[in-house]
Amino acid sequence: MTSVKEQVIADSLQYWNTGKTQEWQDLGINFVMGKREGYYFWDLDGQRLMDVHINGGTFSLGHRNPEIMEALIKGLEEYDIGNHHFPSPQKAALAKELVKVSAGLTHAIFGAAGAEAVDLALKTARCATGRRKIVSVQNCYHGHTGLAVAAGAERYAKIFLAERGEDENVKVPFNDIGAMERELSKGDAACVIMETIPATYGFPLPQDGYLPAIKKLCEKYGALYIADEVQTGLMRSGQMWCVSTYGVAPDIIVTSKGFGGGIYPISAVIMNDRAAKWLTIDGSAHMSTFGGTELGCIVARKVLEILQRQETINNVHFVAEYLRAGLEKIKRENPDTFIEIRQNGLIMGLKFAGAKGAIPVMQRLYRKHGVWAIYSMLDNSVLQFKPGLLCTKEYCDELLERLGAGIKEAREDILRS
Ligand SMILES: Cc1ncc(COP(=O)(O)O)c(C=O)c1O
Repeated sequence: MTSVKEQVIADSLQYWNTGKTQEWQDLGINFVMGKREGYYFWDLDGQRLMDVHINGGTFSLGHRNPEIMEALIKGLEEYDIGNHHFPSPQKAALAKELVKVSAGLTHAIFGAAGAEAVDLALKTARCATGRRKIVSVQNCYHGHTGLAVAAGAERYAKIFLAERGEDENVKVPFNDIGAMERELSKGDAACVIMETIPATYGFPLPQDGYLPAIKKLCEKYGALYIADEVQTGLMRSGQMWCVSTYGVAPDIIVTSKGFGGGIYPISAVIMNDRAAKWLTIDGSAHMSTFGGTELGCIVARKVLEILQRQETINNVHFVAEYLRAGLEKIKRENPDTFIEIRQNGLIMGLKFAGAKGAIPVMQRLYRKHGVWAIYSMLDNSVLQFKPGLLCTKEYCDELLERLGAGIKEAREDILRS
């Protein structure tokens, strides 16, 4: 007899995303999401997994965080998505709070998802500068809508014929300030869009002075600096915005993922006065029915409240340091396979030997050790390792033990990859 889980996989292959479902089957990850709670989730067949992917930060505060659920349930007694044409107390309060936590920025406009907000940020920069060209980094990732996908890695744009010509989009290598200056000095760029640490590209860390130098070049050549903080923001670095840890005050910040607490989709573009030009020229030039829903705003305000608690910030620092110490030990025990720890707070990538070394680690952790951590799509040697902000010491101990065992067992496969 076919189990419920087998039927879901069969239906997904037939009616949902054939390629994606098959890809997971081919990798031996026959997972179907069932119950979820805190930093764990369960397969439909009952297998428990520790979640250290947390969907790129979406579940930074845990799955079904009780405080966030309570805020949403209470909100439902009185509100719905609201009316995107009119001001509302929820929208105004959330915009005010975002401006408060983002030094130098003055306005916030909302969307439903990260890529939608990235598109809006890029349009905002074009309006403010009167220029078309968008400069981004090779192998960066900003989502899959029109301008966002064109700014990102070719893999996701080409298939939909969404790449743009050099007059609209230019990509330079990460950590290459000379290449950036060569582009910006042409004086025709509307903006530079930067993931503060490119997650999908395996968390290469910005070299000392790289991001501040880009900001200086932007100022010199009249372009805006857009910080895509969709993965890196919201206290994952120990500060609200990761870009601040590098001393950069961007013109625009984009946030999403964890902003909705994993409960209600919402994103935001936070901008300074210079960027905010279109808001006074024609405030109806951009609209989104589900952008800044009242329920989403209620949820996001609760998220910001939790993030700013001293106990949350202290825990981020504790978990970051505690895991680092444990990871260093595992690395020492596996010197030929586990070759680098990339880290800023709870933003972490673990680099393995071989071009695809993170894939066997992911498989081993999933099949045998009940840990879910995914390889980086644009650098398969790096395992995305993204623990939640509220993890306990006990959770970290269990995670380190399972990770250490998985890495050791995957040795031969890592070296062959
Ligand atoms: C850095 C970054 N920007 C933008 C996005 C797009 O967000 P969404 O999937 O909500 O459209 C993502 C998604 O993973 C991301 O990692």
